[in-house]
Amino acid sequence: MCGIVAYVGKQDAAPLLLDGLAQLEYRGYDSAGIAVLNAGHAKVLRTGGRVRELRAALPKRFAGSIGIGHTRWATHGPATEANAHPHRSSDGRISVVHNGIIDNAGSLRAELAAAGVTLTSDTDTEVLAHLVARSTAETLEDAVLDAVSRIEGTYGLAVLDERHPDRIVLARSGSPLIIGVGNRETHVASDLSAIVRHTTSVVHLEDGEFATVTASGFTTFTRDRVNTSRTPTEVAEAAGNFELGAHQHYMRKEFLEQPASAQSVLRGRLEDRFGTARLDGLNLDARANRAIRRVKVIGCGSAYYVGQLGAQMIEELARIPADAEPASEFRYRNPIIDSTTLYVAVSQSGETADTLFAVEEIKRKGGQVVGLVNVVGSSIARACDGGVYLHAGPEIAVASTKALTNMALGFALLALNLGRVRDLSIAEGRRLIEGLRAVPEQIEQILRTEDEIASVAKGLSGASSLFFIGRVRGYPVAREGAQKFKEISYCHAEAYQSSELKHGPLALIGESLPTVAVVPQDELVQRNVGALHEIAARNGPLVVVTHPGVDLGELRASRIDVPKNEIELDPILLTVPMQLLAYHAALALGHDIDKPRNLAKSVTVE
Ligand code: AGP
Repeated sequence: MCGIVAYVGKQDAAPLLLDGLAQLEYRGYDSAGIAVLNAGHAKVLRTGGRVRELRAALPKRFAGSIGIGHTRWATHGPATEANAHPHRSSDGRISVVHNGIIDNAGSLRAELAAAGVTLTSDTDTEVLAHLVARSTAETLEDAVLDAVSRIEGTYGLAVLDERHPDRIVLARSGSPLIIGVGNRETHVASDLSAIVRHTTSVVHLEDGEFATVTASGFTTFTRDRVNTSRTPTEVAEAAGNFELGAHQHYMRKEFLEQPASAQSVLRGRLEDRFGTARLDGLNLDARANRAIRRVKVIGCGSAYYVGQLGAQMIEELARIPADAEPASEFRYRNPIIDSTTLYVAVSQSGETADTLFAVEEIKRKGGQVVGLVNVVGSSIARACDGGVYLHAGPEIAVASTKALTNMALGFALLALNLGRVRDLSIAEGRRLIEGLRAVPEQIEQILRTEDEIASVAKGLSGASSLFFIGRVRGYPVAREGAQKFKEISYCHAEAYQSSELKHGPLALIGESLPTVAVVPQDELVQRNVGALHEIAARNGPLVVVTHPGVDLGELRASRIDVPKNEIELDPILLTVPMQLLAYHAALALGHDIDKPRNLAKSVTVE
């Protein structure tokens, strides 16, 4: 969603800000802008379009070595130049970029209007610029503190002041900001991808923290103006990991990276000796582990579907009652938080607002939360009591692939770990370890069949509606398959349990409605094949994602075979062809695969 960049140093700020914004484009946005200070005067350039339009419109004389920039994902008001950030105070002295939502913007706008301020945008952010400008405080830091004290909601913000041309003041509450420390220059961004090409020495602002950045460094402080001494840490992520390289799309680059990324999440975590998974980051000793009576997984979108898959693994292997729920629903239903439940928050970005707020709600009520998170140092990772980092590397495409596979592997590790302090035998543990070790090579085998899957996908791309079906272990796979397909092909795709077909959806089956069926070789295989016959009898076109040993008899269907693993781990591999089906259908339709319409990579607003 929205992105922030800022720079202060010795270089020309505008090109750096524009490059930074281009780096944040993958997060999803619809308008953009920058502000640069030169000789105490702010110049602002905004567009209701893309960063390339901003770049094209950059005047020759736009010099200045301090500035802020923003990509906006519209919440209050349409994507127009007037609503794009930076927003300015009426006298033009203060410029502000802001991520998040100001809940009381309506009343603040009314108050400002009553005081004679002319508001020039529909946004919530504009009030911030006016509030900072109207503060009587001497310093920019105190003026920002004054403004923020009036605000309810979430923010990551960067403020420029013509009167203090050496500094940018930052504030964070619920929306990330990272400071990158360079050589006599300082970079700021809401996402590491815009920083690592300049420096790997970073500080993640804490929630509730403020900072002043200048060319010579930074200071951080609390709301009460108490300095918080923060030491920069080195990030391992190389700038090249964020680049597209020779690939046509990030999504393809990322699904092809899965054999290596799957190795990374398993590395150092498989303990043959005890047939278990070593997960020190959970911060659970054996006694605390055994005391867990339930597991509740929370996440959003695909992370929730993988969470459902993970909950099944936990229930099956550890025999602990487990279920998954969308974090966006969980947090609003006044959930009962129980001290013997282990809450598991799952997120690629670690910044999804609904998941973060659900974690905070659990913690507020005394619950214990661990995270399965990809982005190191992200808000969710930091809010949890412990967790398992997914080590998938940066994921840029909106449609998540390698991070989801690593989430599923993370759940398998968690299930093994929980199982082995209960009734899962050492032999069973070792069986699963062998299965997990085979996963990277088996993903490689699936990827080698990309051309065949692509031709099946082309056949599906003409449909206006599809079903994805599966049952028990196959159902979350079907849900994720439908999700991936609709995200990038814009084609209606709906997941059902195959067992539920006869209770309604069968009425829709006919020659224009294809079904993608997940049919693992498991105890339900005959029942699943039975459902396929019912579809075929009604001329429904079929794609069957299955295992080589499964006999489909005379059924007319396109078949995609996936290598067989242990029964509990099969869903991890069955999900991979779903990514390729979605990708190649969207490719055939000519869609913008990495930036699907209306979607953002990281959903940082509720
Ligand atoms: C995945 O393809 C989707 N883009 C989306 O559903 C995503 O999984 C969801 O928004 C959660 O994101 P997170 O993993 O970063 O929390």
